[in-house]
Amino acid sequence: MKELLRVVGLEKRYGPGCPTCVESTGPERDTNICPWCGSVVALAAFDLEVFPGETVGIVGESGSGKSTALACIYQDLPPTAGAAYFAPFEGGARSTFEANSQERRALQMRHMGMVYQSPALGLSFHSTAGANIVERLLAVDWREVSGMRAKAGELLWRTEVPMDRLDAFPGTLSGGMQQRVQIARALANEPPLLLLDELTTGLDVSVQAGVIDLIRALQQETGAAMVMVSHDLAVIRLLAPRSIVMRLGHVVERGLTDQILEDPQHPYTQLLVSSTA
Ligand SMILES: Nc1ncnc2c1ncn2[C@@H]1O[C@H](COP(=O)(O)OP(=O)(O)O)[C@@H](O)[C@H]1O
Ligand SMILES: [Mg+2]
Repeated sequence: MKELLRVVGLEKRYGPGCPTCVESTGPERDTNICPWCGSVVALAAFDLEVFPGETVGIVGESGSGKSTALACIYQDLPPTAGAAYFAPFEGGARSTFEANSQERRALQMRHMGMVYQSPALGLSFHSTAGANIVERLLAVDWREVSGMRAKAGELLWRTEVPMDRLDAFPGTLSGGMQQRVQIARALANEPPLLLLDELTTGLDVSVQAGVIDLIRALQQETGAAMVMVSHDLAVIRLLAPRSIVMRLGHVVERGLTDQILEDPQHPYTQLLVSSTA
C-alpha cells in the first residue's frame, strides 16, 4: 500500500451498546451519549490516511474523540469496530487490531512512537530520563550498556534537553522538558510514525514556541510521519499541512489546513476558526 497508515471505520464505544448507539449520537444529535442505553460513543466511522513522512492534524474540542483515536491506533485501546492497516505490519495486509501481544509490543516499541498529553502516562517517574529512553532500546535488542547510554544522550541532545538531565527523574524536570524527554523516548527506535497528543497544551506560551520549533526540525530530520492532535487550530496550522476536524466522535471536515482555515465548510469548523482568529 502507498499509505503508511490507513484507518477504516474505527469505532469506540464505552458501555453495553445497543443497535441504535451510532445513529443516536454524533454532531447532528449534539451528543455522544446514546439516549437508549447510555453508552458513550467516543468515536464512530473514523477514517484516516497518513502517507510516509507527512504530518496530519486532528483538531476538535475536548471530548471529541481525538485521544481515543490515537489510543486505538497506538494499540493502547481495543476499538469496538474498524481496522487499521499499517505498512510496517505485514505490509498492511492485516489489521493491526488483529495483532497478538508480541506483535502489539513490536508495534508500540519499534514502529510507532507516542507522546501522551500527560507526561505521567508516557514516562515512568520512578526511572531517570535516560532509563526511560533505554527501556525502548532494550525492547529492540540493544544490549550494550555504554552504547545505550550514548544513544540516550544523543536523543536528549536532539530534543534539546541538557545532557546533565540524563540521570534526572522526570518529576524534577519542567513540563516542557518532560515533553521533550517523551519525544526523545518516542524517537528512540526511529519509528516511521509518531503520534502526538496535545503536545503543547499546558505549557507556557514561550515554552510552546520552542517545542513547536523542535517538531518542525524533527519533521525535516527524521522523515517520520506524524499524527498531531490538538484542540488548538493555531498549533495545527503551524505544523500540519493537512488536517481533520472532529466533533462528538465524528470527522466533520477534512482537507488542507490552510483551506479549512480560509473557507471552513462545517458550521462547527466555522465556529472553531472564528474563535481562533
Ligand atoms: N473510560 C471511559 N469511559 C467512558 N467514557 C469515556 C472513557 N474515556 C473517554 N470517554 C469519553 O469519550 C469521549 C472522547 O474522549 P477523548 O477521546 O478523550 O476526547 P478528546 O481527546 O478529544 O478530548 C469523551 O466524551 C469522554 O468523556
Ligand atoms: Mg484528549
